[in-house]
Amino acid sequence: MKLLMAANWKMFKKLDEAALYSKELAKLARNLPPDREVALFAPFTSLRVCADNLGGSVALGGQNCYPAAEGAFTGEISPGMLLDCGCSHVLVGHSERRAILGENDAFIGKKCAFALSAGLQVLLCIGESLEERDKGLLRAVLERQLGEDLAAVPETASAQNLSVAYEPVWAIGTGRVAGAPDILEAHALIRAFLERRFPDRGKMMRILYGGSVKPENVAEIIALDNVNGVLVGGASLQIDGFSRIVRAPVA
Ligand code: PGA
Repeated sequence: MKLLMAANWKMFKKLDEAALYSKELAKLARNLPPDREVALFAPFTSLRVCADNLGGSVALGGQNCYPAAEGAFTGEISPGMLLDCGCSHVLVGHSERRAILGENDAFIGKKCAFALSAGLQVLLCIGESLEERDKGLLRAVLERQLGEDLAAVPETASAQNLSVAYEPVWAIGTGRVAGAPDILEAHALIRAFLERRFPDRGKMMRILYGGSVKPENVAEIIALDNVNGVLVGGASLQIDGFSRIVRAPVA
């Protein structure tokens, strides 16, 4: 399985910046290490220009979607609209949406199932807060999130279409990266869950790590067992930094 190196721009970049970056990213994609794939999760307003510039060389995704084909849902975007803009992927359940926009696991579960049935590849984000970790709730939190977020996803979901990003909330945008033992423990828990929930396929589903990934620490992270890629926020905003991450050797 190739490593998926994914950029999450969050709410950054206007059209001109998105256009410049995506042209550079397309160049980078022409010469990737053979064990790598790249994905870009861009704001809705930049998706079309990115799709035009990337020309399919890099997987493109939205950062959210609404679980309905169309309707009176002011401000929302459907999976079909993302596909129409050239997306193949969508992020679901990012901790910023859980914490700031109030999304709960029941709603995230609807999004996962609907986006998959609409033909998008889903990258489901999960992770514990510092308080939950300190209370010894790591396993309980990850298993609750996975259980509820994937409740309506059929057992036959393909490994290609469903990936999980483990993003401990305390490591996102804080500069505090989880240590190797933390990442190994969480990813092993997630792998065991996926193997139980999706017999035969769970072992092939990608598990990405996210949270303060940088050019300086990515080599050690992608060398860990059950780490099949990274989801990068802050350090993906400059093409030079993201390029170093994408090309980093495995330590
Ligand atoms: P960060 O964000 O790399 O800035 O910590 C990761 C994410 O939120 O996906």
